[in-house]
Amino acid sequence: NRKNDLAGKTIVVTAGGTREPIDPVRYIGNRSSGKMGCALAAAASARGASVKLVSTVDMPDSSGMTVIRVETAAQMLEAVRGAVKGADALIMAAAVADFRPLTAAGGKIKKNAAPLDLKLEATPDILSEVKGDFIRVGFAAETADLIDNAKKKLGGKNLDLIVANDVTAPGSGFGADTNKVTLLFKDGRAEDLPLMPKRAVAEKIMDYLATMLN
Ligand code: C5P
Repeated sequence: NRKNDLAGKTIVVTAGGTREPIDPVRYIGNRSSGKMGCALAAAASARGASVKLVSTVDMPDSSGMTVIRVETAAQMLEAVRGAVKGADALIMAAAVADFRPLTAAGGKIKKNAAPLDLKLEATPDILSEVKGDFIRVGFAAETADLIDNAKKKLGGKNLDLIVANDVTAPGSGFGADTNKVTLLFKDGRAEDLPLMPKRAVAEKIMDYLATMLN
């Protein structure tokens, strides 16, 4: 990348979907591929930031970054708590499960246990629980009322910036290499970005981050 505008900054990025165990072989998961989070980590690193990537997926080229692999929302919370100490920004691109089984079975659940009731409890909200003096960026993946829902999350989670993403729009679905997002800022500004590669979306976000941090 042409710029080195994030040199000296430490940026924590989360990527991927969490997996919440049902038993030793099964989990509740979601469709997040981790591509957006990995693109953010790559962009930040290329622009000179010291990157800590907390991820449920392996990143193809993570040289020069600190990668912390996690599986569950609880593990992600603990990893983020540690990683944000002294950090300048936290970007929560991960799709954190909202529910997890109340208990995970110790052994593989047998077929003859059907019909099987799974009791689910809420997971901790990482953005709400992790406090500190750093720029906070969240994502809002929505299937309806994109801007309204994203605005609520911007305020509710005390964010500086939320990246609103209609996951039903063409080219914006899970696993795609492109994304179409709207950036919503704390001060009420909004910017609609066209459909573009996830790496280009990441560079846009880094442009704003660099401005906020410098
Ligand atoms: O409330 P919702 O899950 O839609 O909010 C999305 C944003 O909040 C994302 O940035 C996501 O990473 C973050 N999040 C979180 N902890 C959760 C759920 C979501 O930090 N338990």
